[in-house]
Amino acid sequence: MKQPGRQSPLSLDAATFRSLGHRLVDQLADFLESLPERPVTHDALPSAVRAALDLEGPLPEQGTAPGPLLESTAQLLFDHSLFNAHPRFFGYITAPPAPIGILGDFLAAAVNPNVGAWILSPAATEIESQTVRWIAELIGYAVDCGGLMVSGGNMANLVCFWAARAARADWNIREAGVTAAGGRRLRAYCSAETHTWIQKAADLAGLGTSSIRWVPTRADLGMDVGALRRAIETDVAAGDLPFLVIGTAGSVSTGAVDPLREIGAICKEHGAWFHVDGAYGGFAAASPDAPPDLRGLGDADSVAVDPHKWLYAPLEAGCALVRDPERLRAAFSYHPPYYHFEERATNYVDYGPQNSRGFRALKVWLALRHVGAAGYRRMISEDMRLSRALAEAVRRTPELECVTQDLSITTFRYVPADLRASVGDEAVERHLDALNRELLDRLQRGGEAFVSNAVIRGRYVLRACIVNFHTSLEDVEAVPAIAVRLGRTVDAQLRPADQTNLSR
Ligand SMILES: Cc1ncc(COP(=O)(O)O)c(C=O)c1O
Repeated sequence: MKQPGRQSPLSLDAATFRSLGHRLVDQLADFLESLPERPVTHDALPSAVRAALDLEGPLPEQGTAPGPLLESTAQLLFDHSLFNAHPRFFGYITAPPAPIGILGDFLAAAVNPNVGAWILSPAATEIESQTVRWIAELIGYAVDCGGLMVSGGNMANLVCFWAARAARADWNIREAGVTAAGGRRLRAYCSAETHTWIQKAADLAGLGTSSIRWVPTRADLGMDVGALRRAIETDVAAGDLPFLVIGTAGSVSTGAVDPLREIGAICKEHGAWFHVDGAYGGFAAASPDAPPDLRGLGDADSVAVDPHKWLYAPLEAGCALVRDPERLRAAFSYHPPYYHFEERATNYVDYGPQNSRGFRALKVWLALRHVGAAGYRRMISEDMRLSRALAEAVRRTPELECVTQDLSITTFRYVPADLRASVGDEAVERHLDALNRELLDRLQRGGEAFVSNAVIRGRYVLRACIVNFHTSLEDVEAVPAIAVRLGRTVDAQLRPADQTNLSR
């Protein structure tokens, strides 16, 4: 007969676990089905959310029955969250979770492998390796590359930055540090549209943010490669070391793609590491509709992609790819005496900054198997098509101005009919900035649809990014009418204050 094991406060017997799990899955299924009928978000103050969730109390000394605890917590989350799985969520670059990914995270937590070392996670390590290869294949990158799952785009870019730093410094920078070059500075180049991860990377890697050369952009917001070349030549003449050039495959503000092939060629000439930030747009390379420039990511020494964006993985899932796997080991591995890990197997602890690691790959791997490359090509292409449809709907609306459309991002702003002829006038532009800022605030709090903002050539605009497999044509076509209705109200409220400035 099976002896009863140790009974500890956290233990749940199998029957209780089963019934709690079934109840939770029932609640989740109902909730996910009801999402389109709910507002995208609720207009609540932080203090109201804290009060509703009873989050001001002290640490409880005694426990709570798990059934009511789980049930009420789920309900509170449903009532006080922003839902990026809502079909009208177009903010930032945050995707709805693939349902199979939700279940995958549940399964991963139950098996709980530590994917730092092969011996602690035989199946999980091998699944992560295959996930990395499949991701590379999907975007047209070398399938024999090295790589690993990380928490998101920032970390994926950081890992590649560290790999570049160790590879291109011509001294042992890991041991001697950045100051050992005797005043000679490592320089990194990127376009002015690059995401803020680059500042964190330069800072955390000890180079300082002043090591970054911000290269101007062309009219289409892609990097001006002539300016890149001149910046590198100036630094070389000054005795500095241009070690890294970053091309962006889909900028955070507008989805602009840098001329990756040309950047790659300049890197070759100067011996610089070529990194592509594909956190947002990298997966669009899988689509036949992708801009041709995107294909240039295949030339890169490293690429960062973000499965929690355009592979619709539940947060968190980023992925760093490095052409030569040894470059990751050369940047990260140490061999302390207290680890006895098989050298011939992949021990991910040697390939990145983390020690203990969760099984992030499972949700991505399951989704890739669930829908295949064809499924992803279709969803990504549809997202881009919907974004173009939104741009068309905006262009058809006289009170809206379409500013950009790239990949799946459309930017636009509200321009009152009587000010249309005066666009460009400084006082009018100031009014439009204030108007669209307030309009965004109301849109975001209103719950009908959720967009975010961008600042393009100094002007404040609304920004809809579609990485959302729940969104339909009807959803995107609803956006212009909402923006115009709110825009008119805000304009009427702001106009008395701005009127004197507007009348010339
Ligand atoms: C181009 C780009 N790079 C990096 C990031 C950072 O990604 P994450 O938020 O997953 O860290 C983003 C996020 O939007 C991005 O758009």
